[in-house]
Amino acid sequence: MTDVAIREAATADIPALHALIESAYRGEASRAGWTTEADLLDGQRTDADDLTDILADPEQALLTAWRGDNLIGCVLIARRGEGLGYFGMLSVLPTLQAAGLGRRLVEAAHDEMRRRWSAKRVRISVLPQRDTLIAWYERLGYRPTGETLPFPYGDPRFGLPKRDDLYFVVMERPLD
Ligand SMILES: CC(C)(COP(=O)(O)OP(=O)(O)OC[C@H]1O[C@@H](n2cnc3c(N)ncnc32)[C@H](O)[C@@H]1OP(=O)(O)O)[C@@H](O)C(=O)NCCC(=O)NCCS
Repeated sequence: MTDVAIREAATADIPALHALIESAYRGEASRAGWTTEADLLDGQRTDADDLTDILADPEQALLTAWRGDNLIGCVLIARRGEGLGYFGMLSVLPTLQAAGLGRRLVEAAHDEMRRRWSAKRVRISVLPQRDTLIAWYERLGYRPTGETLPFPYGDPRFGLPKRDDLYFVVMERPLD
């Protein structure tokens, strides 16, 4: 994918970020992409308050991908301790997926976490039902750590689960 510029998000980007993330993760629009949470969760993935808190936190940032004035992708990076980075909220506009932008955003996230926080390892958390997504993360060098995290049932800020067996598998890769 050519003509894409990646830069850090600013407060003015929040409405576009919110629309992009919801369209990638949830609802019918997300089904135009190759992987979505639409079968697992309804409700929201994030909201403007959550995004505002992220942008105000020196230990987190959102990288955004633009084609002209159009926001087409994003990824959240976070510092999770000495030498440990995390990325999440990885989103590509459903109609532009499977063209390499997701991989490019993951690489940008790795570079930025090395530069900002001298990260040596990166973690992600994934719903185990998402087998094709996990296979992709394995091709990107991530391996399960054996740890799991509970899904925040009862907190609609994270969505409305369609099933009662959700949890997260933790995956990690070195950054060398
Ligand atoms: C995950 C996501 C960011 C990937 O973005 P993308 O632009 O499609 O990523 P890329 O084009 O770089 O890579 C897509 C990969 O999926 C593979 N792929 C494409 N279509 C596929 C399909 N139908 N089934 C399985 N794999 C597929 C491609 O071969 C490619 O693998 P490769 O990099 O090893 O060649 C995007 O699908 C998305 O926004 N999904 C919804 C939000 C989400 O689930 N985020 C991650 C949550 S942890």
